[in-house]
Amino acid sequence: MYKVAVLPGDGIGPEVVNEGLKVLRTLQAQYGLNFDFQEMEINAERYLRTGKLLTDEDIEQLKGFDVIFLGAIGDDRVPPGILEKGILLKARFAFDQYINHRPAQLWKPFGRLKREVDFKIDVYRENTEDFYIGAGGRIREGACELTLDIERELYDLSIDIEANASNTDDYAFEIGIMSKKNIERFADYVIEQTKLVGEKRITVVDKANVLSDIYHLWREVWDEKGEQAGIEIQYMLVDAMSMALVKNPDKFRIVATPNMFGDILTDLLAEVTGGLGLAPGGNINPNGLSMYEPVHGSAPKYKGMNTINPTATILAAKMLVDNMGRRDLGSKIEGAVRRTFDKGIYTKDLGGKAKTNEFGDAVVAELRKM
Ligand code: IPM
Ligand code: MN
Repeated sequence: MYKVAVLPGDGIGPEVVNEGLKVLRTLQAQYGLNFDFQEMEINAERYLRTGKLLTDEDIEQLKGFDVIFLGAIGDDRVPPGILEKGILLKARFAFDQYINHRPAQLWKPFGRLKREVDFKIDVYRENTEDFYIGAGGRIREGACELTLDIERELYDLSIDIEANASNTDDYAFEIGIMSKKNIERFADYVIEQTKLVGEKRITVVDKANVLSDIYHLWREVWDEKGEQAGIEIQYMLVDAMSMALVKNPDKFRIVATPNMFGDILTDLLAEVTGGLGLAPGGNINPNGLSMYEPVHGSAPKYKGMNTINPTATILAAKMLVDNMGRRDLGSKIEGAVRRTFDKGIYTKDLGGKAKTNEFGDAVVAELRKM
């Protein structure tokens, strides 16, 4: 039995998760996969009702599952940052999902570039550190004393800050932190995946020319790991990389990036492939609980309209199945999506007429034929 915690979340989350589940249930019926789905309400609705974000009890309960299948978190009624940090990022950190794998391939004919270039890029985004670590604060009227406590699976880190400015202005800071051990295990995973697909080069993104402490440590590890593994490491500064991904996406195959730049580059790349409606992601702990989700957010203004593109979530289900060790079935999901597009069935964001549920039904129909 493979226990799946289903967290539909907010906004259009429940609609897209429904379509993803249809696809997983089809595999269950057709190939005897033994899923046990259990839905949990961890979202804005519950927060507004009870004040609860991702609680310790939720975390304990989730630890009893094999995987999490997530829709989207975010709601206009809650100020930015609360749900994101309190639910989504908290889950990534609590379950030590230190890799965020975001594959990006061109989905013809939806690519947004003027020139049609075929590409398939696997982006690996570091997922627990960097400027997402949550070490920030305010220095009000020029002075403060505070302690920043950071808890991760690998360490507890405490940083004392004492600030004194020459005037009484207000200041704010956000510290980016990376640890050598985390970069090492992240690099090990990316290198392993690179070898699995028979590639010899990894493009490593950073901004080492300006943020030189944090990204020199990052490079030290990549230099060493690349050399040990016989993998070529190609460094790209993030500004040049964002340009190159629009200009020549076909020049890249495996990309490794720090957390924050990865957040930005994967939205950019999603748009290049055909839009955020097509981009899936996996928050991965290779030895623990992983969590699959679309890259897009909860898009509250489209909630309940049955118009949103569920492809990203269906492809997230594909990644889930791949990582169960059933790549054969994962490819079938991808194939079914491809055939559905080829029949001219797609949602409004791609210029089509299909409703959210109609698209999911069409994918299921293709899957049944395969
Ligand atoms: C993403 C999202 C999140 C992130 C937000 C919602 C915290 O943008 O998954 O890319 O920044 O990682
Ligand atoms: Mn993002």
